Amino acid sequence: MSLENIKTMLSDARTGQYAIGAFNILDYNSARAVVEAAQETETPVIIQTSSKTVVFWGTRAIINWVRELADSSTVPIALHLDHCRDLEIIRECINSGWTSVMIDASSKPFEENLALSSQVVEMARPGNVTVEAELGAIVGVEDDIHVKQQDAHLADPGQAVEFCARVEPDCFAPAVGTAHGVYKGEPKIAYERIEEIAKATDIPLALHGGTGLSDDAFKKCISLGCAKVNISTQLKYAFIDGFVDYHNRNNTEYNPLKVIDAQFKQLKSGIVKKIRLFRKTQAT
Ligand code: 13P
Repeated sequence: MSLENIKTMLSDARTGQYAIGAFNILDYNSARAVVEAAQETETPVIIQTSSKTVVFWGTRAIINWVRELADSSTVPIALHLDHCRDLEIIRECINSGWTSVMIDASSKPFEENLALSSQVVEMARPGNVTVEAELGAIVGVEDDIHVKQQDAHLADPGQAVEFCARVEPDCFAPAVGTAHGVYKGEPKIAYERIEEIAKATDIPLALHGGTGLSDDAFKKCISLGCAKVNISTQLKYAFIDGFVDYHNRNNTEYNPLKVIDAQFKQLKSGIVKKIRLFRKTQAT
């Protein structure tokens, strides 16, 4: 299938009270793991790239890998640019074939965030590219964006309504207490904030900071209106541990393809589990 944007997959998910997994890839092997996991579970999926990954490999290599993988798959696949503050990278991804982009102007004052996010919506619409935009500040490190605990704040519901009405993003990422990276203590998710924002806007919500949340936390967030769940750190760990664990078990063997295969299997099995979980929404 050719690549799709995230509009239909997320509106179907929001209506059906399930979520689509959005997984940050690192290279071809991890992109292949995401697509094969989607294929095995017969579920649409979002492949995400951080700006750093885009700069590292270049847009041409990434779009070629992902198009080739999507062409041989029978489930819908989207290619989405995760948190990006650089309009030139956003423009390049749109022109290169990404089907969705995220503008992260959340560190700017409200009106500036609104203006930049609207500008990206205008850039994206002619090419049928969908847009995710963020409000509030999500704690942790994602790509080159570092938000300290004392600077993190939840999205304000009144501002969220105004932001969504004026920007009209296809997906809205309000800060709701989750964090990028590894959780140091029990996550303090503001469930009532998710509910309030979801009721006040009909735009599918993105839940950031997916790695390390409990199954029940996922299910609750999804049942309240989160239709896209972002997972990045889990893939970083599987990418490195899959490689290292195999080598530790076979430390006299120097067969790179076996190592790559072990890494692929570790990545894929973790992604399959998450995709299956996001399809079941009943919180216990
Ligand atoms: P984690 O790294 O915590 O999985 O968060 C991913 C994310 O939200 C990417 O935008």
